[in-house]
Parts: sequence; C-alpha cells; structure tokens
Amino acid sequence: MGGYVHGYSAREAERLADQATILRPLLHGDTSFPPGTRVLEPGCGTGMQTQALLAGSPGIDLTCLDVDAGQLARARARLGERAAAVAFRQGDLLNAPFPPASFDAAFVCFLLEHLTRPVDALATLRRLVRPGGSIVVVEGDHGSCRFHPETPAAMAAWSALVTCQRRLGGDPDIGRRLYGLLAEAGFADIVVEPRMVYADAGRPALRDGFVRRIIVPMVDGVREAALTAGLLDASAWARGLADLDATAEGPEGAFCYTFFKATARVPEE
Ligand SMILES: C[S@@+](CC[C@H](N)C(=O)[O-])C[C@H]1O[C@@H](n2cnc3c(N)ncnc32)[C@H](O)[C@@H]1O
Repeated sequence: MGGYVHGYSAREAERLADQATILRPLLHGDTSFPPGTRVLEPGCGTGMQTQALLAGSPGIDLTCLDVDAGQLARARARLGERAAAVAFRQGDLLNAPFPPASFDAAFVCFLLEHLTRPVDALATLRRLVRPGGSIVVVEGDHGSCRFHPETPAAMAAWSALVTCQRRLGGDPDIGRRLYGLLAEAGFADIVVEPRMVYADAGRPALRDGFVRRIIVPMVDGVREAALTAGLLDASAWARGLADLDATAEGPEGAFCYTFFKATARVPEE
C-alpha cells in the first residue's frame, strides 16, 4: 500500500466532509443500490461517502473497510445512529478479511490514487464481489486541473502536491487510467465518464466551496512534506497558496477539475 499523502488531521477530516457535500450531486447522483444489496466500501475514510451511499441507497447491507482505526472511529461517530446498520472492519484491502463473493457490489472513492498496486486492489474486489455483481469507482485526476489566474507560484504549489503523492507511490492522475485498470483486473462492461467541476464568478458558491474548502486545504495539507523535501521554501509556499485562493476571487477567477466515475461488472462464471 502507498502512504496516505493527505494524512489524518482534523483539518483533513473537515476537507473530506466539505468535498463529499459539495461533490455529492456530481459524484453520487446516479448511484443507487436496491435494499438488501451487500455493498463493500473499502477506504471509507471518515465516512463521508458512506453517508451519501446510505442516503442514496436506503436499506443496503453496507460494510466499511479502512486500514486506519482512527478513520473508522470517525466514520462511526459521523454516522451516529445509522452506524448500527453498518459493519466496520479494519484492514488492508489487499488482505481483506472476507471470503470470495461476499458482496453484491463495491463502491470505491478516492482510494486507488493512494495505492502502489491499484490493479491488485481491483482484482481483490473482483474476487470479493460475486459474479454478475458490480463495482463503482470514483477517482480524481490532478493532471486535469486548470485554473485562472494560473500563476507560476500557484502552479509550483500544485506541482508539489503531485510530487508528494507520487513519492508515496500513489498516482494523482489515476482517473484517466480507470478503464485500463478495471480491464486488467478482469472486470467486464466497463463504462467510464468524466465528471467535470467548472466554477467561475457566475457560480460563486461552487467556486468558493471548491477552491477554498477542497483545493486549497488539500494542497496546504502537504505543506510540511513539501517544505521538508525542499520542493519549495516557506515564502514560495505562502505565495502559491495565496494565488490558488485568488482563483476564487473577482470576475476573472475560475477553476476546472475533472473527476472520473467508472462502473463495471464481475463477469459471470
Ligand atoms: C482519501 S481517503 C478517502 C476516504 C473516502 N473514501 C472519501 O472519499 O471521503 C482514503 C482512505 O483510504 C484508506 N486506505 C488507504 N489505503 C488502504 C488500504 N490498502 N486498504 C484500506 N483502506 C486504505 C485511508 O486510510 C483513507 O481513510
């Protein structure tokens, strides 16, 4: 498994919450499983997608798996009473503690980008989901990111985030690879759709939320790692973050980022 570039701080938990709320219609709007469907959510983190899953698919039989016990505790706390209907398991997806074909479906969000062996993770899920069952995968693609004003300082901070994630063995551009990864892992009926967030001054709430509550905190979350690695010095970092923040200002500020959502099936035997 790769390291987790964003870490487990309270601020990162808050960012994940904002990310899930702001992006819910775009990423979850067309996902729903019938009541009783046995769904596995690996890399559930703080439970933000779990909330959306339960809201969009009431009555599912949901199992959340995360390698980090603290994340599972946060997810449980977030769900409150709804946690009673969810099974929480700690473990690495690659050594997942479930027999083959234990689930009807898997939902994966912002996990593969952090793994050194994403195909192995998907192949594990292909075994854990029954033949004929389905998988939904949502990932980002940092290479798709464009913004204005695109200053050198902002670009340097953004590049530092990408470099930190790559050095931990992850792939920040993994969204564009989803079709190939799912095919290599043995899935069938693969469909991948780009889901773009585009926000300008005509959509001030989206622009403010996406830039200031998702993008800037995400980049700033790797500040220590980037400075320690000597990618930037403290003043270049501050300038870069201020310039990224400024993409949410004035009539000209604009931000554009594409997520990728894939659906696929485990082939019938
Ligand atoms: C970016 S967070 C995403 C959380 C959640 N899916 C969301 O979208 O809000 C990635 C999560 O995957 C977990 N994780 C990383 N590697 C894992 C592995 N090999 N098996 C299970 N969980 C893993 C991390 O602990 C972290 O909670």
